[in-house]
Amino acid sequence: MSKATHYQGLIERYRDRLPVDENTPVVSLNEGDTPLIKLQNIPAIIGKSFEMYVKFDGQNPTGSFKDRGMTMAVSKAAEKGAKAIVCASTGNTSAAAAAYAARAGMTAFVLIPEGKIPMGKLAQAIAHGAVVLQIRGNFDDGMRLVKEIAGEAPVEIVNSVNPYRLQGQKTGAFEIVEALGRAPDYHCIPVGNAGNISGYWIGYSEACGQNTASCTLCDGNCPYLENPMTDTRPIMVGYQAAGAAPFMRGAPVEKPETVATAIRIGNPQSWDLAKAAVEESSGWFDEVTDQELLDTQSMLASKEGIFCEPASAVSVCGALRDLRDGKIPEGSLITCTVTGHGLKDTATAIEGRDPVQTVDADLASVKAAILKHL
Ligand code: F0G
Repeated sequence: MSKATHYQGLIERYRDRLPVDENTPVVSLNEGDTPLIKLQNIPAIIGKSFEMYVKFDGQNPTGSFKDRGMTMAVSKAAEKGAKAIVCASTGNTSAAAAAYAARAGMTAFVLIPEGKIPMGKLAQAIAHGAVVLQIRGNFDDGMRLVKEIAGEAPVEIVNSVNPYRLQGQKTGAFEIVEALGRAPDYHCIPVGNAGNISGYWIGYSEACGQNTASCTLCDGNCPYLENPMTDTRPIMVGYQAAGAAPFMRGAPVEKPETVATAIRIGNPQSWDLAKAAVEESSGWFDEVTDQELLDTQSMLASKEGIFCEPASAVSVCGALRDLRDGKIPEGSLITCTVTGHGLKDTATAIEGRDPVQTVDADLASVKAAILKHL
């Protein structure tokens, strides 16, 4: 009998709170268990009193929160005997799908919008051996095609329209409640296709023994309400990029545009579930501009040592603005999901920044260059 005690991924960790049984072949890369990092320097810069934690889901195996959902979706696909999976993606889902398919011995087909995927994410899909189909269209076109193709070919959809994805993603909320010993007052999160906000809300709801309309798995008859971890749920706040903010417009956006390519989405698939999360929690949606989100990305990296991709900074960006404006009261305990790692998209991170200095390879030149900054 093995006495191994090392962490083995979120399905093993939360087996009793997930729709798996002994017949589910667990496909895992030990995802989950990501750090909850307290902001140390930014509160003083903002000049307000609050406690804010970053749930850095960019520290998952493929560098984004998608691994939480993908371990569930691919394990359930394997349980059904699927040989192939398919997804549309702005990059992170394709990276996760490719990696978990490789692990499971399946073929991954990924549809990505032409020219709008950062090189890091594309490299992941290629390295893990996915079949990459770059479409002359955006994510929303890809999503439509994936739903159509699933009826025509033996492939399992692993986008978040697959309810097992949200089941995996709900574990982020469990980890936060366990780490804090309670639910936060506010949970702030970037919204693109709207799966993650729905997943977190399912997690927070189950963690305090309550049903939610954000879950489509069991028609309001959730089997996981029995062992609550806490007795409150947070207010959910979903932030979008201004050029891709259908929840703010109240309707799909035809031609979404934002520097945050991960959330360049105009027609979110989990619209109703995300609306339910915000309404049930008395929360709200809001939008941030490209400049605001890039400034926050830079501040997180340079003031806190947390390097995330542009879309991920949207949660902290919106939360800080709402704190400044008093919409989130001082003294609040706030958690922000930071969804993807900065190394995914290095080009955007360094664009327009001070260039690297080139100096001669002698002591005097290096010394002069250093002293200039001290
Ligand atoms: N942040 C990052 C880094 C993402 O990659 C995504 C979505 C989101 C936030 C938004 O999450 O869609 O659940 O509301 N990326 C998807 C993809 C669409 O294909 O990788 P959501």
